[in-house]
Amino acid sequence: MGNRVLVTGGAGYIGSHTAVELINGGYEVIIVDNLSNSDRSSLEGIRKITGIEPTFIEADCCDREAMRRVFENYEFDSVIHFAAYKAVGESVAEPAKYYRNNLDSFLTVLELMKEFGRNNILFSSSATVYGDADTLPVTELTPRKPATSPYGNTKQMAEDILRDMVAANEGLKGIALRYFNPIGAHPSALIGELPRGVPNNLVPYITQTAAGVRECLSIFGDDYDTPDGSCLRDYIDVVDLARAHVVAIERMVEGKSRERYEIFNIGTGRPVSVFELVRGFEEANNLKLNYRVAPRRAGDVTAVWADTTLANDELGWRAERELRDTLRAAWAWEQSVRQ
Ligand code: UFG
Repeated sequence: MGNRVLVTGGAGYIGSHTAVELINGGYEVIIVDNLSNSDRSSLEGIRKITGIEPTFIEADCCDREAMRRVFENYEFDSVIHFAAYKAVGESVAEPAKYYRNNLDSFLTVLELMKEFGRNNILFSSSATVYGDADTLPVTELTPRKPATSPYGNTKQMAEDILRDMVAANEGLKGIALRYFNPIGAHPSALIGELPRGVPNNLVPYITQTAAGVRECLSIFGDDYDTPDGSCLRDYIDVVDLARAHVVAIERMVEGKSRERYEIFNIGTGRPVSVFELVRGFEEANNLKLNYRVAPRRAGDVTAVWADTTLANDELGWRAERELRDTLRAAWAWEQSVRQ
């Protein structure tokens, strides 16, 4: 049972890449997903890449009875909880939807873990919990500033819920991974990000513009206090990010955690500007992108990137893929979706 992992949201972007890395690492994967922002095709992608069909249950993590059946029917010691809404702008317009879904789903999973004596929980957190940090790069000890959106609030609150649940339950161990900006796709181009409607994030907008689905990329602001005036972010390849989950699960399963609740930044440690990313995409894929400078986007912080020392030292993990390869994979995936 130690090598079985329940992956909520496992049909989604980061979840599907993590399922692949888990399976490649010898784990048996059980996916629960309500397909509200994902597609069954990712399950087929996982099967093609690994040769193994993960167990799939279509269910909503807020549905306690459906989730109880999952816990009754499957033995697993570890859970990775990805299932959540993630659109920052939408969370500002519909906060209740975000608080209800993102917190209720997590509480339901945690309560069932307690009831069924399941021990290890890995939570998808985000660099968004740092808000507009005073010092850069951010370490795990950098104080969290007020989140700039209800989405960000749900990540801060969920971290606190996890900390408190672990403190109150002897058997429980938890890890929160704070992702920076996940981008790219599996090099096979069999799984990747499938944004619904107009993409909010930079790389899907870039690839859709290159594919002719969008006319022109807007670069939100060139008057920030940064070397080229555009915002700085830490873009982490989704496969590198997925690998971090496998080592974090291993750490808990093998009893190597130093504390029962731990937090790790998962990024490259390298700030990249929007202009650099656009140029990098053009060079990696040998094409020209149609873009223009537009006003700043509300809620964007000027710069955030990770100090990854803790993940390097404690997890023995580091980002390995070159940005150029990541941007090639992102474009290959976009082209495969358009075929
Ligand atoms: N950007 C553009 N044009 C676009 C989209 C984005 O110029 O069309 C810029 C943004 O202004 C920002 C950078 O590209 O400077 C990255 O933007 P993303 O939307 O890709 O990513 P964010 O850094 O805004 O968001 C990420 C995660 C969220 C998280 C947030 C805050 O996607 O989950 O960081 O830390 F909440």
